Amino acid sequence: MQIYDLIQKTRRKETLSDTEVRYLINGFTQGEIPDYMMSAWLMAVCCQGLSTEETVSMTLAMRDSGECLDLSGVGGITVDKHSTGGIGDKTTLLIAPIVAACGGFVPKMSGRGLGFTGGTIDKLESIPGFSVEISVPDFMKQVREIGCAVISQSGNLTPADKKIYALRNLTATVDSIPLICSSIMSKKLALGADCILLDVKYGNGAFMKTPESAAELAEIMVSVGKLAGKKCRAVITDMNAPLGHAVGNALEVSEVIGILQNNDENALSELALALSAHMLELSGKGDFQTCLKLASGAVTSGKALEKLAAMITAQGGDASVTENTAKLPKSKIQKLFRAEQSGYISGIHSEQVGLACLELGAGKTAARSEIDYSAGVVFLHDVGDFVSAGEVLGIIHGSADELCERAKQRLLRAVRISDEKPEISPLIHQIIS
Ligand code: URA
Repeated sequence: MQIYDLIQKTRRKETLSDTEVRYLINGFTQGEIPDYMMSAWLMAVCCQGLSTEETVSMTLAMRDSGECLDLSGVGGITVDKHSTGGIGDKTTLLIAPIVAACGGFVPKMSGRGLGFTGGTIDKLESIPGFSVEISVPDFMKQVREIGCAVISQSGNLTPADKKIYALRNLTATVDSIPLICSSIMSKKLALGADCILLDVKYGNGAFMKTPESAAELAEIMVSVGKLAGKKCRAVITDMNAPLGHAVGNALEVSEVIGILQNNDENALSELALALSAHMLELSGKGDFQTCLKLASGAVTSGKALEKLAAMITAQGGDASVTENTAKLPKSKIQKLFRAEQSGYISGIHSEQVGLACLELGAGKTAARSEIDYSAGVVFLHDVGDFVSAGEVLGIIHGSADELCERAKQRLLRAVRISDEKPEISPLIHQIIS
């Protein structure tokens, strides 16, 4: 088989067979196909797409490139959730303990921040002592005994994705639906949960900019999941404004604890309860409305907070943060930023907020390899609120005045204020199952 011919076929939009796709993925993973040839094929995929059959072949070849976990030892139906990434998205920290408190089993492998988006693993590492690197047997034991565990990607899972993703990052081939689908679904399938809920985001803070492109990605991911024998569902959700009020690692953990302590009702808690209900329904705990009541009961009873504390303790962290969030890392400087005019908040540009937090040190950049876990921003208002000129819009948390000042300028540009009250679009746009 000639790689040259396979590149040519994809470039001409001719379909590759399962054997041909596997030959490409395995050859590249094993170092037999050079980067320049794989880059050319990936670019051809970006420009011409892949058929559903080819996407399935690619996903399964990537799944099979490394270890696949057998979660049968957990002793119950396991349910995983994946979000395609966004700003202020801390739903995993809510859904894992909520679903566990309702009798579900959530084995979760999460990622670190990518570009301007935050990562669940970085958020968890802001909890003093919390370890995201536990062995697979300990991971399964924790899921069996507590109901949830969140760890970073195991070294042996989907090596093909690690190599291909690194190449995509360097060759402008990240935003391709079949490539995103195979990357995400290969990891989900290798983890091996029985059910998978996908939270596919669209908007200015997401990879997919429109609900239509998010639905296209969701449909192919659900099809691949089902063909691989999983119960699979996707929700298409809005990421045109940050999710919740806090963006930044420790600040987001603190917001999660606040919701589980006080039963605050806002867009974040609404989405977390809906996602938890979908996961419980997929796990066979009843219909959606029954599962929504179960999830909400787990929060009001304090059982979800107890589960979060149990998960933190099991992973070596200081669970007293769930009683006293002052024990989380705290920034040296807190700076207010204020509305420059009166009016309704008609938008908060998530990508700009993500970039402001990155500059404050909340994520890694080429120039900085250490994360400042205390850095970020907390908004005091939501889209749709009326604010008067001079009113405080939010609080910037940073380690130096000049960093906070730069973030302030970016945040002031990110918050749009208009005379007209904006229409608020629903958080959940569509469900694909
Ligand atoms: N997340 C992934 O894991 N892979 C992608 O390609 C995009 C987002």
